[in-house]
Amino acid sequence: MSQRIHRLIEMALALSFNRRLTLFKGARLFGRVRKSAESRVTLGPHARVDGLDVHGRGTLRLGARVEVKNLSIDFGLSDGMVDIADDVYMADGAKLIVFGRLSIGPGSIFGPDVVVVDTVHRHGVGVLLRTSGVDVRDVSIGSNCWIGARVSIMPGVRVHDDVVVGAGSVVTRDCSRHHVYAGVPAKMIKPYES
Ligand SMILES: CC(C)(COP(=O)(O)OP(=O)(O)OC[C@H]1O[C@@H](n2cnc3c(N)ncnc32)[C@H](O)[C@@H]1OP(=O)(O)O)[C@@H](O)C(=O)NCCC(=O)NCCS
Repeated sequence: MSQRIHRLIEMALALSFNRRLTLFKGARLFGRVRKSAESRVTLGPHARVDGLDVHGRGTLRLGARVEVKNLSIDFGLSDGMVDIADDVYMADGAKLIVFGRLSIGPGSIFGPDVVVVDTVHRHGVGVLLRTSGVDVRDVSIGSNCWIGARVSIMPGVRVHDDVVVGAGSVVTRDCSRHHVYAGVPAKMIKPYES
């Protein structure tokens, strides 16, 4: 059965005690939880969320067995979407500013305090930043990636599958498969060893 059909069946069977908060079988949401009324949050089977802060209007979808701690998301009022696939692990304190779409592939892991942003404030001579609006550039992180502690991922970046990003890096460009990146800005430092 395709993953899509499987997911639809799971949706139908889901225990939904609030139209905007859906917990599948075995999912746990605990710790400090703050969720705006306009956001929708779905926790897949056996997902485990210890602390969650969701601001603005958007959708957060966590796959099966995802584990996160003190995850903070700001959707603004843009109907953003954060799609975190099965078996993702995020250490304490990830901060995601997502006005467009962020996807994180299965089995990827985050060190603590990772930041992902997909918005660029329009700026220039005489432009008032509070009112100038933002340009949105979607971000995607592939499957089986290791994003080190305190990494920042900038708007429009695509991190392909099987990539390591070293601690403290600022990722401004796409990262290609089977490579290790590090630094500010992040550069490829080596290919995966075979
Ligand atoms: C990226 C990483 C995996 C590379 O480890 P490694 O394969 O052992 O690589 P090395 O230590 O041999 O480093 C190779 C080069 O990259 C540089 N480098 C390594 N990590 C770097 C980083 N985070 N930022 C900048 N440069 C880095 C090294 O200085 C070295 O440079 P040199 O060749 O000029 O001396 C590791 O340094 C790292 O950052 N791990 C993340 C740890 C973490 O965040 N854990 C959180 C818990 S999930």
